[in-house]
Amino acid sequence: MTDGLLFVHAFPLDARMWQEQQSSLAGTVPVAAVNLPGFGGTSLAGDVMTMEVAAQRVIEELDRLGFERAVVCGLSMGGYVVLELWRRHRDRILGLVLANTRAEADSEEGKERRRHVAELVLAEGTEAILEQMRALVSLEATTDVWDFVSGIVQSQPPEAVAAASLGMAERPDSRPDLPGIDVPTMVVTSSGDRLIPPDVTSAMADAIPDAKLAVIEGAGHLSNVERTIEFTGLVAEHLSRCGL
Ligand code: MLT
Repeated sequence: MTDGLLFVHAFPLDARMWQEQQSSLAGTVPVAAVNLPGFGGTSLAGDVMTMEVAAQRVIEELDRLGFERAVVCGLSMGGYVVLELWRRHRDRILGLVLANTRAEADSEEGKERRRHVAELVLAEGTEAILEQMRALVSLEATTDVWDFVSGIVQSQPPEAVAAASLGMAERPDSRPDLPGIDVPTMVVTSSGDRLIPPDVTSAMADAIPDAKLAVIEGAGHLSNVERTIEFTGLVAEHLSRCGL
């Protein structure tokens, strides 16, 4: 068993969103990116992918990789999953990167939107939410960035997208857990995030003891895709704080 770095993807993408970080860091540490159930060609885990089910998938991946502990980096939905992993399996966590995410549960209105997304993709296919997914990138994002992101989104099966949407609607409020996080943690946000505003993500850094906050200027929600080099540099710095 060794220690390593594991990336957890956003909704509705898959492990490929981390390809730049994976290839840049591969020479320095054992690194991998997990596909949550149903995404990236993996098998579905039922009609609702709760954060518990998703965290279990992460544990299976750590076991498969032979990672005893990991610095776990989750972006957005990946962050929700990482917080569940912290609640259930903190013995496997060496450090955290929480990027473009939030600790709060959904409002009633937010839950309703999730149910609508699930119904829509099951009726009309993943394509039906593609336009609304433009908010994943900043207004300044290049065509190349959008082509990369939309290509990944379109390849996800509607059943996986629906299950994750319904699972996120059920996720608990993680704010009570934040003061108890006692591993080195970095919180990343970006000024052009149109889905989770920087102040919402930054609040997590205030609540987690000794957390470091990094703000990436100009990037949208998928900050690691829009600012690959800057994001990778932040993770690399954090790895040394975690002793990896
Ligand atoms: C994501 O990027 O994972 C989603 O924006 C998360 C969400 O819908 O809350």
